[in-house]
Amino acid sequence: MNTSKTADLSSREKLKLILELSSEISATDSIRTMLKKITDGVKNILNADRCTVFLLDEGKKELYSWVAHGLEGVEIRLPVFKGLAGDVASTGSTVRIEDAYMDSRFNAEFDAKTGYRTKTVLCMPMKNQKGKVIGVFQVLNKNSGVFSYEDEELLALFSGQAAAILESAILYRELKKTFVSFIRTLSEAIDARDPETAGHSIRVGNYSVEIGRNLGYDRERLEILEYAAILHDLGKIGVKESVLTKPGKLTEEEYRHIQSHAEKTGAILENIYFQPEYREIPPAAALHHENIDGSGYPLKKKKSEIPHMARIIAVADVFDSLTYERYYRRPMAFKTVIDKIKSDSGKKLDSECVNSLLKLKVSVVLKTLNSGRENEIPARDLNKLKALTLDQLSAILKEKKENPMKKIFNSYYAHGGTDEV
Ligand SMILES: [Fe+2]
Repeated sequence: MNTSKTADLSSREKLKLILELSSEISATDSIRTMLKKITDGVKNILNADRCTVFLLDEGKKELYSWVAHGLEGVEIRLPVFKGLAGDVASTGSTVRIEDAYMDSRFNAEFDAKTGYRTKTVLCMPMKNQKGKVIGVFQVLNKNSGVFSYEDEELLALFSGQAAAILESAILYRELKKTFVSFIRTLSEAIDARDPETAGHSIRVGNYSVEIGRNLGYDRERLEILEYAAILHDLGKIGVKESVLTKPGKLTEEEYRHIQSHAEKTGAILENIYFQPEYREIPPAAALHHENIDGSGYPLKKKKSEIPHMARIIAVADVFDSLTYERYYRRPMAFKTVIDKIKSDSGKKLDSECVNSLLKLKVSVVLKTLNSGRENEIPARDLNKLKALTLDQLSAILKEKKENPMKKIFNSYYAHGGTDEV
């Protein structure tokens, strides 16, 4: 849609643009893109210079911009009782004025900061189905005179549409918050069963995400992977504490009981409703002990039968388990961990996922371990260490001669010299 900036459109041209805009909006599935199309359309149809869609943050009593012409990528936050938009949000009434600077409600701070000059304003509340204000649609500087009542009516049409879009976005965000807090609470419940492995679920989540990122997973897939990884040991809730925290060797029966946690993870997650976009979570979490050669448990699945996410979680799980202390053993030396994972690559563990782990930077591991010892190492050495990949680090650690990186890592990692299993 490309129109003149000076002359108003004829009714016929406006109708044509409205129809075009409606079909463009219905063909879009991203909320931000829909709102961008609406603001671009309103700008053209009303022959104005700028539009901004603000959303009301009730907790902070602020309006924040969702889409704003002239300020792409920048979020504006305004106190809800300040300025014309704030007035519209708090009174729920539309404001249509000829000269902003002649109106006592106008807040000129923003113009002063950006050098923009606001003149004519049409600002309308966006209300949900219950009539509650959820945001504000603001249109600035008509290119041909002042905003008319007809402009107000046209804006009402689109701000109603924008409100419906925003309301569904708010609802989705709230649902998402509930879902994420539910996942986090479950992971805390797993950790509470076994304080010695506290944080294991979150660490496996971090490593899985980084492995997935190296393998080209997009944002949506990484999110699913992270949740599945956080939940992988959920079934430990059903494992006897005496067995879970037993120091020393387990009997065969106890070992089988511990192994049952994978099945239990599947059984618990099967009973939880997951939206279609999250349906990969239960199998990805429950099959993290399957080996690609079919020697794993509980189903003895082979490579192509195991979900790709479960194969990633398996690698992350082994890496974190071996680098952490357990009731029955000290953590392995880091180089031994990497050697063991490499020797299992292509047998128990998926080689592509192992290679992706080996490409992770040391910085990811140090951040995940979060030992709080960063200050003990000079920044320059620490930065050099962080920039190494795990594969490069393990090669350095294997060197016979003294290597400064070896010394730095061993002093940082604390378990660097322990080889007991
Ligand atoms: Fe497990």
